Amino acid sequence: MTRPRILINFAITADGKTSTRAKDPAHFTSKLDLHRLLEIRKRADAILVGRGTLEADEMSMTIPAELKPEIQPLRCVVSRGGKFDLSHKVFNTQGGTVHLLSSDPPPEYNPRPYQNAGAIVHQCPLVDFLHRLRTEYNVETLLCEGGGSLVRALAELDAIDEVNLTWATHTIFGGENAPSITGALGPHLPASLEFALTHFEPLDNGEVFLTYERLKTSTT
Ligand SMILES: NC(=O)c1ccc[n+]([C@@H]2O[C@H](COP(=O)([O-])OP(=O)(O)OC[C@H]3O[C@@H](n4cnc5c(N)ncnc54)[C@H](OP(=O)(O)O)[C@@H]3O)[C@@H](O)[C@H]2O)c1
Repeated sequence: MTRPRILINFAITADGKTSTRAKDPAHFTSKLDLHRLLEIRKRADAILVGRGTLEADEMSMTIPAELKPEIQPLRCVVSRGGKFDLSHKVFNTQGGTVHLLSSDPPPEYNPRPYQNAGAIVHQCPLVDFLHRLRTEYNVETLLCEGGGSLVRALAELDAIDEVNLTWATHTIFGGENAPSITGALGPHLPASLEFALTHFEPLDNGEVFLTYERLKTSTT
């Protein structure tokens, strides 16, 4: 599959959760974590999120001008139904071009309002969207910032190359319904995905920055 190199970035609690069961905004980490996220964004040609995360976290999906980004990454949001809130920040802030994926739109789907708002609308499966980003939009590095439902789909495609975690050891959420980086509890992945630890950085505030690189097997 031709696709960009895909990085993911998450903050997780001591018990491996990324959000509460109510899917509240992810505000349980420090300014250092935010700074690290923005530095990772600077490596990306495009940022990818699920519609749930875009809405919960009220993201603009941009890099602040004071960080002097060379480019503003493309802003990619995925949905099955393809219904997006046009009053959302992402449509009303300057930044990279907005690409919307509607992977399973209803027959009456009308992309025109989003196109009029300046977005490029794609109607295809996620795997084809990733292919298009690489081959038609020259996206070499794609940063997926969640949420778990979307990362679960990427894991099923074995389309995760680098995992960045801020492990917030100072917080426990608990609960079987609080999601992890692959979303809600559900069936096992078709096969385990193995990664090698490439960065380990404990901070003074009870957080740890971790990076893992996908180990390629002979069959992948
Ligand atoms: N701790 C962290 O670092 C972190 C990071 C990110 C998010 N979060 C938290 O996670 C929560 C949101 O997680 P989530 O899992 O509900 O949200 P999500 O994955 O961001 O969004 C889910 C939605 O994305 C679309 N989607 C997911 N997979 C898709 C696929 N394969 N193809 C097409 N569309 C797809 C669907 O949209 P439609 O319903 O429109 O079809 C789905 O309902 C929030 O509380 C957020 O704060 C935490």
